[in-house]
Amino acid sequence: MNKFKKNIIGLFLILGISLSAVLLIIMRDKEFSFNDISERLNKDNYIMQINYPIFNGQNKINREIKKYIDNEKSNFLKIIKETSIKDNQLNIGYSYTEKDNIYSFHIRTYSITGNNNAYYRSDKIYYFDAKNNDIIQINELVIDDQIYEVFKKLALDYLNNNNVLYDKKCLNMDKDNYKLVMFSNNYIQLILDSKIIDDSNRELIININYNDVISYLNKKYFYSFEKEKDEFVKNEIPQIRDKKLFNGKKLVALTFDDGPSYDKTKRLIDELDKRNARVSFFMLGEHAIKQPELVKEIYVRGHTIGSHTYDHKQLTKLKTEEIMYEVNYTNEILKDITGEDVKYLRPPYGSYNKEILESINMSFILWSVDVEDWKIKDEKKISNYIIENVKDGDIVLVHDIHNETIEGVIKAIDELQKKDFAFVSIDELVSYKKIILEKNAVYRFLK
Ligand code: NI
Repeated sequence: MNKFKKNIIGLFLILGISLSAVLLIIMRDKEFSFNDISERLNKDNYIMQINYPIFNGQNKINREIKKYIDNEKSNFLKIIKETSIKDNQLNIGYSYTEKDNIYSFHIRTYSITGNNNAYYRSDKIYYFDAKNNDIIQINELVIDDQIYEVFKKLALDYLNNNNVLYDKKCLNMDKDNYKLVMFSNNYIQLILDSKIIDDSNRELIININYNDVISYLNKKYFYSFEKEKDEFVKNEIPQIRDKKLFNGKKLVALTFDDGPSYDKTKRLIDELDKRNARVSFFMLGEHAIKQPELVKEIYVRGHTIGSHTYDHKQLTKLKTEEIMYEVNYTNEILKDITGEDVKYLRPPYGSYNKEILESINMSFILWSVDVEDWKIKDEKKISNYIIENVKDGDIVLVHDIHNETIEGVIKAIDELQKKDFAFVSIDELVSYKKIILEKNAVYRFLK
């Protein structure tokens, strides 16, 4: 080969490489991703806590979301101008679900304002097609409006079957009332405005099987159904780690209540992975149902998932049917995500009585170390309290809904691992200590 030819080939090679590099950069740029924006304002007469997503390379949709948030803020500020009450609150948060290439983002606004604690809420859902990195409207995801009639029928069946008192207005609601839907891996989640249902401020989410509405969905966007779920359950069942790894170590079960709480819990499990630590989460059904992907992530990383009831009501103050609803509904929500029965219950406030214990066929897991992190709210004090108080076999109670707790726990893990402590899940601790857990029984430590 002569020199000229060599040069030409070299030139093409360089051109080719740089062209693919540029293409790669462009393609990377087009990848779907988003960041979390968090704002907190603490003023004399109000508190504003706002979280929302911004999407990379999506100026149009980001502007639209920003406009929506600004509008909610200015409505709130307008209302509180006319009141003399100091205790006003605006809360905007979001959660998302994922099904195939479609992401559903739900932005929720809650506010409490004025003399009579006027409650306001509003919901907005954005859909994202991650494959084309573009926003998409619900009428492209759904091919037949008949789906809303099916949603309505299933919602009314659910309300009747679960003895939920609902206003007869429900029956007359038009299809727009059934348009707040999230597409999650296993279910379509239909969000109903509880104002219409029972005048409470709670939102009601009804899980709808894809099988019931499959023919109304656009197969271009939704293509995997039950099959994928079975594969997930088979492939990703987490294993208990080999006991030998912990020979001679003092074993501690950290347990996190009241979550999951999207960004905080996500940061926590990432930090736990770096430290080869596993823990347990006692989740609220009302939070788990909104963040199924996060719950699944927690599960596949090998942490233990237990129930902390649906919405944190004190069980001893409820009627039997209400107790069963709190427990059974939450177990259903969690099992739908992980495919596994929920074995452990932590009753809110640790509060139970003999009848409750006898009627719920689960092991009640309480705690031996109460950090009171929600009260301390100080990273250093939280970590010191844990470091000074834990012993082998302890169950430690903290909450993954406060940033100070997450930071304090991470610090404590770092310190204690140097002192021969290891952090294991409840499932692991039970197995390593060779304890046979009974149902309808209470455990405060596992030694
Ligand atoms: Ni709690």
